[in-house]
Amino acid sequence: MTSTRLTRLLSGPDGDSTPRLGYGADYNPEQWPREVWEEDVRLMREAGVTVVSVGIFSWARIQPAPDAWDFAWLDEVMDLLHQGGIGVDLATATASPPPWLTTAHPEILPVTATGETLWPGGRQHWRPTSPVFREYALRLVRTMAGRYAGHPALVAWHVSNELGCHNVYDYSDDAARAFRDWLRARYTTLDALNHAWGTAFWSQRYSDWEQILPPRLAASYPNPTQQLDFKRFSSDALKEYLRAERDVLREITPDVPVTTNFMVMGGTKGMNYPDWADEIDFVSNDHYVHPGPQDRDELSFSANLTSGIAGGRPWFLMEHSTSAVNWQPVNVAKRPGDLARDSLLHVAHGADAVCFFQWRQSAAGAEKYHSAMVPHVGEDSDLFRAVVALGDTLKTLAPVAGSEREAAPVGIVFDWESWWASEQDSHPTSLLDYRQEALDWYSALLALGVRADVVTTRTDLDRYQVLIAPVLHVVPADLAKELARYAENGGHLVTTYFSGIVDENDHIWLGGYPGALRDLLGIRIEEFGPLLAGDTVELDDATTGSLWTDRITVTDPETDVLAAYRTGVHAGRPAVTRRSTGSGSAAYVSTRLGTEGLTALLLRLLAPAGVESELPAPARGLVELTVRGGPGGRFLFLVNRTDRTVPLPGLAGEVLVGATGADGSPVLHPRDVAVLRQPTA
Ligand code: GLA
Ligand code: GLA
Repeated sequence: MTSTRLTRLLSGPDGDSTPRLGYGADYNPEQWPREVWEEDVRLMREAGVTVVSVGIFSWARIQPAPDAWDFAWLDEVMDLLHQGGIGVDLATATASPPPWLTTAHPEILPVTATGETLWPGGRQHWRPTSPVFREYALRLVRTMAGRYAGHPALVAWHVSNELGCHNVYDYSDDAARAFRDWLRARYTTLDALNHAWGTAFWSQRYSDWEQILPPRLAASYPNPTQQLDFKRFSSDALKEYLRAERDVLREITPDVPVTTNFMVMGGTKGMNYPDWADEIDFVSNDHYVHPGPQDRDELSFSANLTSGIAGGRPWFLMEHSTSAVNWQPVNVAKRPGDLARDSLLHVAHGADAVCFFQWRQSAAGAEKYHSAMVPHVGEDSDLFRAVVALGDTLKTLAPVAGSEREAAPVGIVFDWESWWASEQDSHPTSLLDYRQEALDWYSALLALGVRADVVTTRTDLDRYQVLIAPVLHVVPADLAKELARYAENGGHLVTTYFSGIVDENDHIWLGGYPGALRDLLGIRIEEFGPLLAGDTVELDDATTGSLWTDRITVTDPETDVLAAYRTGVHAGRPAVTRRSTGSGSAAYVSTRLGTEGLTALLLRLLAPAGVESELPAPARGLVELTVRGGPGGRFLFLVNRTDRTVPLPGLAGEVLVGATGADGSPVLHPRDVAVLRQPTA
């Protein structure tokens, strides 16, 4: 990813090279008559919109028949936007194949594990591995790229849309063929595959590659390594498709940056984004709030993880909502202030552009109840006024553009392989929720006012004084060595139940759990003790565990017991341990403590590393702090997590955004955000 390309994008199409934050939306003019387009551009200018994503679902309009093309309307839209000084993140338009294509070629439709076809009528009804789909889609991409290569409004390419949102798992015959090719590349020989998949079990030994299938509906649990490899393959198949579109675009428009919108948010698990990030010129993400007790913690966590995926460099918030969505069981409207606060929380975590789905609320179609920048009621609305106000705020924050994340003292490791493997079937419990455990640790750190980065296993872990790796289930030998070295050299590692259990083939590390981390942690577990839903155990430090327990024996004189079980079958035995090693330590938490329990425990886990909150005492727990740094300064983002007014006495810096008290220091009104600039050190 080259940041110069992102700078070009954020400078807009008008030749002005001063970096600014992007602001905009998905724009779907094909849903509206011609006369609305001019009003759209007028309102976009009023709101300070700089960039819109166009054409995402336009395939059927652009190519009404195999050899018919209709670009006149899109030419006009592009010209109008350009005249309005608005850049276009132009979609390749391949997200939703038109009816003529699926009628002529039903063999591009995805098939579920139970053999059902996913028919047209919605969107994204295509197989990532279909050669027929690819042929038609790449022809469209080539035609789009050729048509708009020189258009002055074009600032970026938007490949497809949310790849894998509805079609990540396809079990069709195309998928079966591609899966076999993928397995051949991974294992070379059938013997190696038979070993990796443990096919001695249940008479599953393969004697020919052609016998191998995706894990379709089976009579009992499908082979776990087959399942894990199918997850890896399915993510790779979409990545491969992304590369195919990107390669066409790079060939025709080598200077135009290419992105695709990721879905780092609750409920999305199929795409291994850290592994995709290097394929595009800048990372984009879509995020939607799921209302609930941890909803804004989850927003912060997702934005933070997106930054981790982007290697700490700026990224693009491609979609979020101004208010309600249409696809949750109950679609709650945002409260006043949430629109700005949610947007700025993404900026705090590295977003250099804030975009929404969508510009104008649809009058028809499945998303007509989804909020937009221009609601059904029109411009005379509190919502549109909030949209205009946010545009002004983003202009004020122009100096932030291009700044990168300043490493926090604590890292939380989020690992797709462990996520996938730890939640597979036929395990000690089906109640384990990998992302929720990571989020609980994150919420606990927010409650303490301690800054944390959510990172992937590709990150340089030595940047962090404390590294929390919840449910790090898959630990290949190299990673085990890396973690031991990290602790030996002064890092403080914290891990939890069901970590270090299997290798990359999902084979158990034998000899006592957690095999891969046993020596590092200085403990030995003979048996897991998962708890039934609703059951809890008390620990002697006054916290309460649920979900899981372990029968732990301490095996190393350097291992201390930080907390023991007070109740349950393991009463009197260790529950939380920490082993000193080299100049660091390695701690183990054997049960699910939840945010409250983790907050109490973290005080003890952070102490040996000397990590404390950087916030003024009255703000700890109430305010989230993030720091971005660059040539324009060091930017402190202070986000009020509460409905209370919170003063921030003694914080030095120029207040770019936010209210100030009598002494000039910032004051945060309920759910408000302040941004301070300090000189670069
Ligand atoms: C996704 C899609 C958009 C729209 C929104 C609605 O993010 O990319 O096209 O459907 O969801 O929330
Ligand atoms: C049945 C089967 C065994 C084994 C056990 C597991 O009894 O016959 O092969 O799968 O269940 O509980």
